[in-house]
Amino acid sequence: MESQLGNVEIYPPSPPPPPNRNDDDDTKRGMLFDVPWIIILIQFIVILALVLGLFAFFLTRSESSTPSVYSTRTYQNFELQTLSPSSSPLTFRRRYKSSTETPSTINIDFSEDLEPTLSPVVLPMEVMTPASTTKSHQSTILENVNSVEVFENDENLRAAVFTSSKICSEIGKSILVRGGNAVDAAIAASFCLMGGLPNKASLGGGMMMTVKRKNGNVTTVIARESAPMNINLEELKKNPELSHVGPKASGTPGVLNGLYRAFQKFSSNRIQWKHLVTPTIQQCNKGFDINEDFKNRSNAPALASFFKANMRNNKLFCSGLSSILTEISDYENPLDSFYKGEMAQKLVKEIGGYLAVSDLEDYESDMASALCTDIDADTKVCGPGPPSSFAVLANTYLTTKNMSNLSKVNEFVKSSQGLTHKIGDPMFVKSSKKYAEELSKTSKRTSVETKEIHVNFEEDGSTEVFVIDENNMTVSVTLSLGDNFGNLIYSSSGFFWNDKMRYFDMKNDNVPLSIQPGKVPTTMISPIIVVKNNSVLAVSGGSDLLGLVHLLRDITHRNYDASKVAPSLFVQNSAISLKSPSSNKFSITGY
Ligand SMILES: *[C@@H]1O[C@H](CO)[C@@H](O)[C@H](O)[C@H]1NC(C)=O
Ligand SMILES: *[C@@H]1O[C@H](CO)[C@@H](O)[C@H](O)[C@H]1NC(C)=O
Ligand SMILES: *[C@@H]1O[C@H](CO)[C@@H](O)[C@H](O)[C@H]1NC(C)=O
Ligand SMILES: *[C@@H]1O[C@H](CO)[C@@H](O)[C@H](O)[C@H]1NC(C)=O
Ligand SMILES: *[C@@H]1O[C@H](CO)[C@@H](O)[C@H](O)[C@H]1NC(C)=O
Ligand SMILES: *[C@@H]1O[C@H](CO)[C@@H](O)[C@H](O)[C@H]1NC(C)=O
Repeated sequence: MESQLGNVEIYPPSPPPPPNRNDDDDTKRGMLFDVPWIIILIQFIVILALVLGLFAFFLTRSESSTPSVYSTRTYQNFELQTLSPSSSPLTFRRRYKSSTETPSTINIDFSEDLEPTLSPVVLPMEVMTPASTTKSHQSTILENVNSVEVFENDENLRAAVFTSSKICSEIGKSILVRGGNAVDAAIAASFCLMGGLPNKASLGGGMMMTVKRKNGNVTTVIARESAPMNINLEELKKNPELSHVGPKASGTPGVLNGLYRAFQKFSSNRIQWKHLVTPTIQQCNKGFDINEDFKNRSNAPALASFFKANMRNNKLFCSGLSSILTEISDYENPLDSFYKGEMAQKLVKEIGGYLAVSDLEDYESDMASALCTDIDADTKVCGPGPPSSFAVLANTYLTTKNMSNLSKVNEFVKSSQGLTHKIGDPMFVKSSKKYAEELSKTSKRTSVETKEIHVNFEEDGSTEVFVIDENNMTVSVTLSLGDNFGNLIYSSSGFFWNDKMRYFDMKNDNVPLSIQPGKVPTTMISPIIVVKNNSVLAVSGGSDLLGLVHLLRDITHRNYDASKVAPSLFVQNSAISLKSPSSNKFSITGY
């Protein structure tokens, strides 16, 4: 009783009772007791509701993180083996900084692999010049020409942008002209490629970038897709096709995170992020010219909805992409849109594979110093460390450097794929960083190269952006969806989803290439920059190991197969030009 009355005291003192109610004692008592009872009842209900709510909240949380017995088990394994005790599984981030305190699951002794068991054949060196040399104008599209063309521009280009789309190169150039640097231009061109080449560049995909700054520092941004935390390993292993086509083939997309991190780190700060995206939004509404690839596939059933939504009058429009880009560019931090909140929920709901909102929330790209390898006097080539197999490229070049028999060189390149079998995501395979460092500096190799690899590393769905600005800042970006058109799932938000799960070795457990929740698959993609005496000599990229080996041979005046050279920007006598076997379509523009 006392406590009930005490409760009443929190209310303002009641006015003296009106005289007309003085004799009605029962009613008065009744009222006195009614008020506290109602308040107590309300308080009780509120507290009960809070307790029930909290209970339900924790119940659903624990339910959503443990959807099946199998994935609970793998999740726990993952936690035990790869996380420091202080971090909880839900806050696991792919941060480069934290990787030093992240114990790895696999540590492989690689020392024996660097023993010389194969000595390259040394033959007299021949120097070959390109088949033909043609002059061209400032902005050029090369199409279906069979010979190799080295374009020496009429005007000496001091700054240049290279992509596979004329419009996208022009958009990159427009950013340079407005005072942006090479990274700004590369970001704008990358967004543009998402509109013009949605089968290769996509918000639902990944990218890798190598940047050389004025001060000579070469840094890489690795924004490759990671395996979702709730993958069902048994299911993927039993049905390999699930990792090629359909929702379960997708890793957590990294492109937007990587491009924005690059912007934060390297931008000129003269152009706002938003203005790197708007040219693409505008072009989406004007339409892109259709390339051969699209024409040939416009009848493919899996791509029907894509063509229906986007192709009109032989032009490719991208209204879905333009609206998601508009929404993203309205945020001060674009990562708050795509990777969080309503948009993340919508994307996850739509794809319906293993991907969860927490995968998007936790995604973080890696930034690291590049690996560099001396390839000639004063000349070095720089590219990313693992999970890129750039080190394999460097080693293959060094191993075949003195060979003059091109068939032999090509055979060596083919057998080099085996070397990737010890290069895994460095957060999971700690030894691979050191392995890559040593591999990239030696021409030694062993029987490893004949080892059977259960992964086909081909990435048809990839495209490159190269930019050199007038301060000599240089950028090489390779955007990728995995296979052409990724997993063939077209989002209503205007992009294809990747099929990166297929780049894991599904046949073996506990090897660097095996699949694990949170892991990034190994790739042949190597955005490279060749530097001579601290000046840029060439920029290239992509996943074509053979093409890159022939490019390095060309640069160092070894004989090379001109029809195989990977497209690149070349700097000669301070002027930039395009070098490429022009069976594909490439565009260089600059000033
Ligand atoms: C280059 O930049 C990276 C990242 O900012 C930094 O960690 C590294 O120490 C720099 N290297 C040199 C040689 O300045
Ligand atoms: C498209 O198809 C035509 C005719 O079948 C073929 O000649 C051409 O090489 C194909 N183009 C591509 C890019 O696949
Ligand atoms: C290639 O030839 C040079 C010069 O003859 C020699 O110094 C070098 O060791 C050779 N490299 C390999 C890998 O055999
Ligand atoms: C070049 O190498 C290939 C393959 O190893 C071999 O068949 C061919 O005879 C070699 N050519 C010369 C001229 O040595
Ligand atoms: C850029 O590099 C070229 C040589 O490749 C050099 O001539 C030029 O002065 C450099 N420009 C700047 C701004 O450093
Ligand atoms: C390398 O560059 C420095 C200054 O940038 C220059 O003094 C030197 O002569 C160059 N060396 C060669 C071999 O070109």
